[in-house]
Order: sequence, then C-alpha cells, then structure tokens
Amino acid sequence: MKTTVIPVKHPMDPDDLYIPGQALAQGAIVAFPTETVYGLGASAFLPEAVGEIFRLKGRPADNPLIVHLLSADWLNQVAETVPDLFWPLYEAFSPGPLTYIVPRRNEIPDIVTSGLHTVAVRFPAQQAARTLLQAAGVPVVAPSANLSGRPSPTRARHVLDDFAGRIPYVIDDGPCEVGLESTVLDLTTDPPRILRPGKITARQIREKTGIGVVSWTDTPYENQLVRPPSPGMKYRHYAPGAQVTIVLPGRGQSIEDAFLTRLEESRQPVGLFLSEASWALIRGSLPGIKVYTYEGESDLAGAMHYLFDALRTLDEMGVEEIMAEGFAGEEASAYMDRLTKAAVEPRDCHRVLFVCEGNTCRSPMAEAIFNDRFAKRGAHASSAGLSVIAGQATAEKASEALAEWGIAPVSRPSRQIRAEAVREADLIVAMTENQRARLKHFFPDAESKIFAMSDFLDGCGISDPFGQALYTYRRVRDQLGSAMQKIIDRLILI
Ligand code: TXA
Ligand code: MG
Repeated sequence: MKTTVIPVKHPMDPDDLYIPGQALAQGAIVAFPTETVYGLGASAFLPEAVGEIFRLKGRPADNPLIVHLLSADWLNQVAETVPDLFWPLYEAFSPGPLTYIVPRRNEIPDIVTSGLHTVAVRFPAQQAARTLLQAAGVPVVAPSANLSGRPSPTRARHVLDDFAGRIPYVIDDGPCEVGLESTVLDLTTDPPRILRPGKITARQIREKTGIGVVSWTDTPYENQLVRPPSPGMKYRHYAPGAQVTIVLPGRGQSIEDAFLTRLEESRQPVGLFLSEASWALIRGSLPGIKVYTYEGESDLAGAMHYLFDALRTLDEMGVEEIMAEGFAGEEASAYMDRLTKAAVEPRDCHRVLFVCEGNTCRSPMAEAIFNDRFAKRGAHASSAGLSVIAGQATAEKASEALAEWGIAPVSRPSRQIRAEAVREADLIVAMTENQRARLKHFFPDAESKIFAMSDFLDGCGISDPFGQALYTYRRVRDQLGSAMQKIIDRLILI
C-alpha cells in the first residue's frame, strides 16, 4: 500500500482535508496531528476499521480507545449521559488536551471500549484535527499513532517510521505543540480521578473550575493495583530500544553535576536528553558523546515537547543508554510518568519459556533472538520441546540463519519440557495454537501465562521448518524477530 503524506497548508480552508475525511468515514485509516501527539484514526462506528487499528498497532484488545469529537453537539452519539460537572470542565478546557471518561451508549461497537461500560471522549484543539473531523462527519477513534509500546509520535516522520506502507494517509502539520498525550479524567467516580496525567493537572482543574479531582494512584480501589482502571496504564510504554535512565539532581546539586555523576557510572555508548543551557556547561568534559538538546534552560514545557522525539532520535543514533533530565513537582507528573514508563526495566517479570516440538529449530531460535535483544536488560529466555528426542543439537540451518543476524545459536542439546521450567517461567510461548492447547492441558495451573506465537503475530503461527531449506529457516527467524517486542511488552506488566 502506498502511504500518501498530505501536508497542511496555513491558513487552512474548511474543505482542505475533504479527501482523507471522506476516506475515514468510509473505513480507511488516517493518521492525523493533534495538539498532543499524532493519532491513528478510524471511524468509531465501523468495527472492522477499529479492528484494523488494533492489528496495526499490535495493541492488546483490553485497552480501549479514545473517541474524538468535534464539539459537545456530537456527545449524544457515543455517551449515554454526562454528569453535571462535565459542563464547567468542557467550558474551561475543551477543545484541548483533556479526555473525559463517561457512561457509554450501547450503540458504539464493543471493540472501541474493550467491553467497558464507559467511553473516553476528547475534543482536539488542533485545527487540522478539527478540519478532518468536520470532513469525516463521524466520531473518530484515535490512539497514538505508534506501534504498541513505542514512544508516541509527535511528528509525521515518527508515524511513517512505524506505519509507512501500511496505512493510506498521514496528515503532516509539523511537530505537535504539547508533545505528551492528553490527561484522562474519569467522571464516573466521586471524586473524579485522573487516570493518566497530562498537561492539564489537578491543580489547574481546581483553579479554573473549583472542581477537586484526585490521581488514581493516590486512591487505588481494591485490586486496581493489579488491574489499573485505565487499562493502558498497565503496559510498559514509550520505550525506545535503549535503556532509559532518569537524571534528577539531588539536594543542592545542579542538573549538570547530576548528569556528570551518572555518566561516570554508566556503560557506553550513552545519549543525553537535556536543555541547551545545561549541555553548554558540561559539553567540554564529554567529547564525542551523543546528545539531543532543546532550546533554553531546564524547562518543563520544552522537555515535554521534545521527549518522544528525543527517545526515537537517540535510539536511531545507536546509543544503548539514554540519560534524560527529570523534573520535580506536580506540573511535571505527566512528563515523569512517561519517562518512568520508558525507564522500566524488565526486573520483576523476566523469564520467558519458548516451546516447540523437538527443541531443535523454532524454540531455540526464539531463545537466542530474545536473549540477544533483552538479556543485557535483565530478561531471560529458555526453551524446551513437547516431544523431544533428548540430546539433539540445534539444527544447523537454524544456527546459520541466526549467524546472518550476528546471533550466537543455543549451544546446549535439546530438552523435554518439565513442570519446574513451567513453574519458573513468567510467560510461556508456544509456536502453534495446537501446542498452546496441549501445554494448557498438561499444565492447567499455568494456563494464564501460556500463549501462542499467533498472539503476537497477528494470528499467524510458526510452522516447523525441520528438514526444509535455509530459506524457510530465514522466514521463521524473521517471524520470531517481529514478535519479540510484543513478547517483552506482554512480559512487563506494570
Ligand atoms: O492525546 C491523546 O489522548 C492521544 C491523541 C491522539 O488524542 N490519544 C491517545 O490514545 O493517547 P491512546 O489510545 O494511546 O491512549 C488512550 C488511553 C489508554 O490509556 C486507555 O486505556 C485509556 O485512554 N482509556 C480509553 N478508554 C477508556 C475507558 N473507557 N476507561 C478508562 N480508560 C480508558
Ligand atoms: Mg498510546
């Protein structure tokens, strides 16, 4: 599929985005800018188009979407009722970067809300987004336009990095003003609770409307630490390939000193994200280091605006660790939330067991690829087979296909799956759905952590390459490679 990039010309005419708007209304996927981040849009009333969004992003089905509306006149298409306090909030903050959770209407497809009784609605302020909504004439679901788990896109280029050739339209209106996603506010509880921090803070809401809201993290209801109220909050997010370290100055320490101290302890190669003024003070002592700066002195708005671009850009420069400037205080809660999620290490949940038939081809390849990518970050894979001839070496062509990627093969002989390995694993991934069914049958206690590769590969299983040509092994390797990011994301529930 060819992706057409549509640049926005200013000043805009009302019918500038007529073509992508009509395409959207008829079921096409259109990526568009908002004041927060770029969104991946589909008509909220076309379940197939919404399903395509989940497939494209690799998004777990239990993570509902935000419905974008032009104004409150559109509310009754998706919301059953709105509480009285919606109106002063709407008056004060909409259009803008605030999302409201309200009771849903039954008519919206279940896939939009992941079956919840509530729906998230937002009224974007950016002119291009509003012109597109007007042209589409329908409510539009739009998650951030990134592959699940990756940093959100704040430029059209980021959208293309993740989706070029996979969606028909990207509307390009340059960098997003805010740079972090909207504040998500649940209006179905008393007091209302912020489920995801954003630019609009509890203090601003109190100051402008007199309404007191709390953060869900301060008032977790029972069980919600296991299953947070906003399903998206439980996933590891915003993560570049490199490890992220947050640099916050200690008492009496300058941010520059804090960076220098961390740098002394670090492994190379490192990339820094900080203000130009801070960089100017330390650059003399750090020749050759990779750096992404934003204009000015330590400034929260600048850091928010550039964070996601910095994570992606430093990653592309090939650094292994990104040290990013941290900020203190309530205004910084959204920024620190994103940074903390990007910095999560696979510490608490970190063992994957890959399972195939003979443990000579598919599962040892998966083990080697996973460990190559994630072992240095503390996650570890092993593998076993369901019907193993003990003591076989890894297939030669499997090793050859891995060598082409510079990955060392598994050197130990094949082994049969054992109850102990199943118990110790945090996540078990079989190559086919049939193997998944057998694993669940043999190990019913482990059922909830048993998956199949098709859960991470848009429904495709991985068939046995045993005895086939190198070409087939390469295909298996490529399939395994593309599932790995989703597997690590699933492993790390926070
Ligand atoms: O700024 C934004 O909000 C961007 C732009 C494109 O509008 N969109 C965005 O969407 O960030 P997404 O899908 O990446 O994040 C939506 C968040 C998720 O954490 C999701 O779990 C939560 O909103 N959410 C959606 N519907 C919900 C509901 N009914 N109840 C609780 N949380 C909900
Ligand atoms: Mg997102």
